[in-house]
Order: sequence, then C-alpha cells, then structure tokens
Amino acid sequence: MADTLTITDNRTGKTYDVAITDGTIKATDLRQLKAVADDPGLMTYDPAFMNTANCRSRITFIDGDKGILEYRGYPIEQLAEHSTYLETAYLIIFGELPTAAQLQTWTNDITLHTMLHENIKKLMEGYQYDAHPMGVFLSTVGAFSTFYPDAKQIFDEQSRRKQIHRLVAKVPTIAAYAYRHSIGRPYNQPDNELSFTGNFLNMLFRMTELKYKSNPVLEKALDVLFILHVDHEQNCSTSAMRNIGSSHVDPYSAMAGAAAALYGPLHGGANEAVLRMLNEIGSVSNVPAFVKRVKAGEGRLMGFGHRIYKSYDPRAKIIKRTADEVFEVTGKNPLLEIAIELERIALQDEYFVSRKLYPNVDFYSGLIYQAMGFPVTMFPVLFAIPRTAGWIAQWEEMLLDPEQKIARPRQIYIGSPKRDYVPLKKRT
Ligand code: CMC
Repeated sequence: MADTLTITDNRTGKTYDVAITDGTIKATDLRQLKAVADDPGLMTYDPAFMNTANCRSRITFIDGDKGILEYRGYPIEQLAEHSTYLETAYLIIFGELPTAAQLQTWTNDITLHTMLHENIKKLMEGYQYDAHPMGVFLSTVGAFSTFYPDAKQIFDEQSRRKQIHRLVAKVPTIAAYAYRHSIGRPYNQPDNELSFTGNFLNMLFRMTELKYKSNPVLEKALDVLFILHVDHEQNCSTSAMRNIGSSHVDPYSAMAGAAAALYGPLHGGANEAVLRMLNEIGSVSNVPAFVKRVKAGEGRLMGFGHRIYKSYDPRAKIIKRTADEVFEVTGKNPLLEIAIELERIALQDEYFVSRKLYPNVDFYSGLIYQAMGFPVTMFPVLFAIPRTAGWIAQWEEMLLDPEQKIARPRQIYIGSPKRDYVPLKKRT
C-alpha cells in the first residue's frame, strides 16, 4: 500500500497502518498502539524537537544539506541583491512581493508608526546605564502590551494589521533608544524622510547636525543584513513565538518571549559571543591552540554549526561578501584575520568536517556590526529588529491555522512514585 507505514507492535503482535502525509506520520496516530487496554497509547519522545514538525508553513523553506534558504519561494541571494528590508518584510508577512502601490502604502504605514509613546521613553530611562540593550529591548516590547490593550483582539484582522505596523516600525526606535541610553546620549527622534535603515542609523548616530546622512554603502549593508535575518522557519525564538502565541495572548507579550529566546548565546546571542571569542583568541598565532581546546570539549567555536545546515550557511556566504564592501569604507576590522584563519583551519579539520560544522550567519556579521560602530551588546538587538517580521508572520500563520491548538507537549514522568507527606519533625 502506498503512503502508509505498517507497524507491528511486538508487545501485542498487533499490526497497524498509519498514513504518511508530506513525509510525516501523525504522532497522535500512534496513540492507538496500546500494550494493554487502559494504556494511554504510544507516544514519541523527541527532546529539543530533533525530528518533529510542529506546523505546516508557507513562509520559509530551508534545505540544510544543499544550503538553500527561500522566503515565500524567493531565494535569499536574489532578495539580498534586489530587495530592501521593508519589501522583504512585506513579502514574509503577506506572502507576495508588493506592487508599487502596496509598497508605498506599506512604507507609509511603517513610517507613521516609528515614534514611541513618551511614557515608554520614561520607562526606558529607568534602566541602569549599563543595562544590556537586549534586556531593555525585550522588556520594552513586553511593556507595549500595556500601552496597546487593543492588541488583545487577535482574531480581528484590522487590529492585527495595526499591531504589525506598530511592531515593525517601533523596534528600531526601541533599539536605538536602548543604545543611546547605554552611552548616555539624548534620544534622537525618527526622521520620516529617511529609509527604514537610514532612519535607524539616524536615531543611533546623529549628533548635533540638523539632518543625518548615512554612508550609502553602510546603509545598504545593514539593509542586506536585515534581509538575511528576517526569518528562519521553526528556530528556537520562532517556536517560542508560536508556543506563547498559541495561548492567544497579545503579540507583544508573545514577542517579548521570542526575543528572550533569541537573547541566548546558542541563538541570536551567538554574534556577540563570536566577537568575545575573537578578542579572547587575540591573534592569528593563537588560533591552532584555541581550535585544539574546542576539540577537547573546552567550549565551542561560536558562529559555527547549525541544527539544520549541514553545509555552508547561505547567509554567511552573502555576509562575507558584504563584509568586504563595508571594510572598504570603514577599514578592515583587525579581528577579520583571526576569523578567516579560524574558518580555514576548521574547514579542513576532521573534527569539524565529520560533524558538518560550517560558519553560520553569526560568524561574520559581528565583524561588520563592529566596523560600523556598534558595541557588541547591540548585536543580538540587530538580529531582533528584522526577525520581528518573521515572528509576526509565523504568529499570524499559527493563529489562522485550523489545525493549531494551544501548544502542550507531553512528558515521560521519571520522578518518585506516590508517597505520603512526612511531617517536618520526622524528616531525616
Ligand atoms: N563548536 C564545536 N563543536 C560543535 C559546535 C561548535 N560550534 N557545534 C556543534 N558541535 C559539536 C558538538 O559538540 C557535537 O559533537 P559530539 O557529537 O562529539 O557530541 C556535534 O557537533 C553536534 O552538535 P549538537 O550540539 O548536537 O548540535 P545542535 O544541532 O544541537 O546545535 C548549535 C546547533 C547551533 C546550537 C551548535 O552548533 C552551537 O552551539 N553552535 C555555536 C553557537 C552558534 O553559533 N549559534 C548560532 C546558530 S545560527 C543563528 C541562529 O539561528 O541563532
């Protein structure tokens, strides 16, 4: 029989046919396999979701073996070359590239929502001067939930649109304010005449000049980096967005959780960790000793390896090219030589080759950010700004998917069997 799986349960000798759809079987179909009649049925055990599809999605396609990444069917290389972040955000959220009129309306809608409520500014002023900008970012996004109670109308399309505009538009402003706060400079108001990325640079770096003008090469490079970070299907933070959103909470609360997941050094915090690692290595001559330590299990080579990519991360290839363009303007980042030597050694070393560990998106992006003048603590925030579009798209897809319910995994209980409470005096 085609497209079915025949399973024989050797505990009972019974045979079952289970349907195969899109290369998967339904885990709940296994519940019919029972050792005895009152057995709850067979479950699958899959810590960290190594082999479990949690949804059907039309948003992002990845072939990890071939190093392919596509947003809504469009190859990442083409988008990086021809699109802009705002256009790509539209594509990811709405499913199609916008017409000229749609793009104009979208750009206008985003531009009109870039300002922050004065009370949000006050809230941000309350953070310590050395607060990590990613902590500031994620808690401010969470605080939005109290400023926009209309966001609770998650099944009202108009309300969702409004929250989408607010989120995409305001995350750069939060990020810029977090940065200015950390260096003790006054916040810069958004400039609606600038592009999305140009305005972000204005809010970050404008000093006393009346009109900020960014370097076009750097503005373009940042825009390309934003495009590359828009979405990456069911990664840790996106699953967090879907999981939290499945409880039907408002999108700001869900996104605060997604941003928290991104903050970790194994995910979006890796770009920051790469820079710290390169600084720690210090010089090209120390690279072999560092690689030796990694191979001995003393730490990881940050910016290397990926759960899905078992070949070169296609984003890393584009970033490497972008780095050359940026360094022509800013001068070479002195850490680049260490990174190149690390990559050279790792790509021919048995340890990394046999485990299919290649540079990922975070390996070179930090070098660009640093050359552009960002402190390392801003790196995860620079990841979160464009990923907002991906999180929103995935959140909305999850909400409108009739197959989705509140996320609630099962467990294998391995704790103590039932026992009686022991009064304090009798405990030894
Ligand atoms: N350096 C050294 N060894 C590594 C590394 C690394 N970066 N990554 C994986 N390994 C080894 C690991 O020790 C294991 O070896 P063994 O089989 O001998 O125990 C093997 O490779 C498989 O690793 P794993 O931990 O089972 O793989 P995973 O899929 O659970 O982890 C990862 C994926 C990205 C968390 C991991 O590769 C890692 O920690 N990389 C460094 C952090 C990093 O760069 N993260 C950014 C990911 S891309 C951006 C994003 O989407 O967030």
